[in-house]
Amino acid sequence: MNIIGISGSHRSVDSNTDNMVRAIIDGMGEFIALRDLDIKFCTGCDKCFKTGKACVIVDDMPYQKILDADVIVLASPNYFKNVSGRMKNFFDRTNSLVSPRQLKGKKAILLAVGGQPVTNTMHCMSIMEDFCSDHGITVIDNFIGRADKPNSLEDAHMNELAKIRNNLRSLLESL
Ligand SMILES: Cc1cc2nc3c(=O)[nH]c(=O)nc-3n(C[C@H](O)[C@H](O)[C@H](O)COP(=O)(O)O)c2cc1C
Repeated sequence: MNIIGISGSHRSVDSNTDNMVRAIIDGMGEFIALRDLDIKFCTGCDKCFKTGKACVIVDDMPYQKILDADVIVLASPNYFKNVSGRMKNFFDRTNSLVSPRQLKGKKAILLAVGGQPVTNTMHCMSIMEDFCSDHGITVIDNFIGRADKPNSLEDAHMNELAKIRNNLRSLLESL
């Protein structure tokens, strides 16, 4: 089973989002930070959607890694109750995979973190859930953390993430 973890954090050091992803996939899958990739905006040309062909933009968008993955861990910081701009840009660039649905049947674990109480981050989570629903991706676990300063996830959060990691490991072993 192929696992990738994608972080939409802009923080290159001590990112809470990165830490959540790594707590789940380290040793099991590949970590991808969108900030390290040159991913251009979707231009809205709709060629992909109309023809079912690949996106015409040539850049670092990790299409092959997404297509090869069985489980995708998607993680975003809460930015104004939404996903980060990098994560939204990543979502938009998957338009070429929607019709026909090339990600259908994959599994996802969704993670979000914000500085405010977790209710403030629920909309961010629901946006990621809608993204998966649009692609036919099944969400198998999710978690919302509360942390504002860099590298400030509480132990209780790390314990919850360890449970998700164990669930993922069990899934791996069951195959
Ligand atoms: C531009 C910006 C907008 C933010 N908006 C929110 C928000 O609406 N709600 C919230 O709970 N936290 C908000 N935050 C706080 C971040 O979600 C929080 O610091 C998070 O831990 C960042 O994750 P990272 O360390 O992976 O970058 C915002 C931070 C920034 C920089």
